[in-house]
Amino acid sequence: MTRTIAVINIKGGCGKTTVATHLAGAFAASGLVSTLADYDRQKSATLWGKLRGEDARTVRLVDWQKDYGDVPKRTQRLVVDCPASLRTPRARDVVRDADLVVVPMLPSIFDERSTLRFLGKIETLKRVRKGKTPILIVANRYRARTKEAIRLDRLMTGNGYLIVARIPDKSIYPRLAEKGLTVFDNDTKAARLEQEQWLPLLEAVERGDGHA
Ligand SMILES: Nc1ncnc2c1ncn2[C@@H]1O[C@H](COP(=O)(O)OP(=O)(O)OP(=O)(O)O)[C@@H](O)[C@H]1O
Ligand SMILES: [Mg+2]
Repeated sequence: MTRTIAVINIKGGCGKTTVATHLAGAFAASGLVSTLADYDRQKSATLWGKLRGEDARTVRLVDWQKDYGDVPKRTQRLVVDCPASLRTPRARDVVRDADLVVVPMLPSIFDERSTLRFLGKIETLKRVRKGKTPILIVANRYRARTKEAIRLDRLMTGNGYLIVARIPDKSIYPRLAEKGLTVFDNDTKAARLEQEQWLPLLEAVERGDGHA
């Protein structure tokens, strides 16, 4: 059966494509049939797929700008990389169609305000309110113990959201993206260390809930 994970936030540049490619890469590395649906006109996920070498584990790319909802047969994990520009009704459709929703955000007041506003808009869906579609928050480019990180933790907890994973701000991410890779495709010490940061998110996805 296909499990659909939508990576979504109306805020630009918060790490949607980085998180989406890493989820798809991690699923492929664990032997699952992994598909990445590119719903963004910018086509960053598609570019990542083109840069990905033949020897890397297969992640199938589909263009949802062209064929919304197209899912290759036998897909076990479907990751949807959404654009920042999605209007609320479309965003709600994507959330309604997903089994889980992953919302990346940066420790910055701009991201915090926009993300809380966005979360408020999808919370109006019954599925989300009832916890049937879990919302997993990922703090991206997170620098532990900084003032911003502490504020983000407090703010999200105060608003009743749990941060499921904290992904550090590291150059390994843009560097691997240049080759269509993720930390799960790489066996260096640095990549192995980074893999650990993703485990709480991957475990939450497999459990199908929002608890770390
Ligand atoms: N944890 C990280 N550490 C360092 N750089 C990162 C990290 N996450 C993302 N980046 C870089 O930040 C930039 C924006 O990330 P990304 O493209 O994933 O965001 P996005 O939300 O998909 O953007 P858009 O809204 O344009 O689709 C990229 O250059 C990416 O390589
Ligand atoms: Mg993107």
